[in-house]
Amino acid sequence: MTSRDKILSLFRTHSDQYMSGQEISRSLNISRAAVWKQVRALRELGFEIEAKHSQGYRLLAVPDLLLAADIENGLNCQLVGQSVISLSEIDSTNARARRLAEEGALEGTVVVADRQSAGRGRLGRRWESPSGVNLYCSILLRPKIPVQQAPQLTFLSAVAVAETLNKICRLSAKVKWPNDILVNGAKIAGLLNEMNAETEQIHFVILGIGVNLNMIEEQFPEELKYPVTSAFLETGKSVNRLIFLQELLQCLDRYYSEFLLEGFVPIRRRWEKLCNMMNMKVEVDQGNEILCGTVVGLDAEGALRVQLNNGKVERILAGDVNPVN
Ligand code: BTN
Repeated sequence: MTSRDKILSLFRTHSDQYMSGQEISRSLNISRAAVWKQVRALRELGFEIEAKHSQGYRLLAVPDLLLAADIENGLNCQLVGQSVISLSEIDSTNARARRLAEEGALEGTVVVADRQSAGRGRLGRRWESPSGVNLYCSILLRPKIPVQQAPQLTFLSAVAVAETLNKICRLSAKVKWPNDILVNGAKIAGLLNEMNAETEQIHFVILGIGVNLNMIEEQFPEELKYPVTSAFLETGKSVNRLIFLQELLQCLDRYYSEFLLEGFVPIRRRWEKLCNMMNMKVEVDQGNEILCGTVVGLDAEGALRVQLNNGKVERILAGDVNPVN
């Protein structure tokens, strides 16, 4: 813990009383000038710290920051979040998690950033990642499963994100095959899962998760081709990123343990319940042909099962799926 973290934790445990600079300096074994320097730095970060003559300091309000110590504090997980790395800025949390994985980081390591300067989306797109509003995180897993089953983890993370949005933000988030999360038909979160494997063995998987929590309209890029939204735009209420992240990590941890014990079936069932087009008539645009049918579920490889009008069930591995009236 840095002395800033230690001062913060002292403030938190004495939130109903003032602490003098002298008391703090004595209990942390640092100079009073160092205490003052850290108080000033905390204020610059947005912490409201009252200073009362002859009584000392008192913490009044904390900003919506994602500090590793706060994330770990009270996190009820077995594996996910064993190590949390929190950064104020990074190119991409996925890129950082990959580097850490290559250096041997623990399974369950979480990288979270306040802002990404080169956030990555699927198909080489950019993921808009302004500071102070959203969640950008990557989770390192080292599952001992066959390489072909790795895509199942994408469905696992989609279910965890949708359920967390529903629980914390009281939304009705749905999953859209293959891996979008929508609210009222607009994209609210995206997943970018990356894998490092040989033919037979997975070295690691990075679950990259971006959730638009408190973003406002002006912060979205203009050139987007699909409708987008944020939890704030949907509900009018801002979301505490720390509470959201802790719930998401706990949900991922539960479902990952269950997945390792029981396989994909429970996740598949949950995904089908949350699927925005389950039992609906759809058109699947596969570039060279358009198929029409009804969505009947997901299979073990993550293909969408669509029953065509002639009764045959087709496995859709790629393509754009849209409802028809
Ligand atoms: C998509 O295009 O839908 C996927 C977006 C994934 C964005 C997240 S934000 C955290 C992680 N780091 C990245 O660079 N991308 C993912």
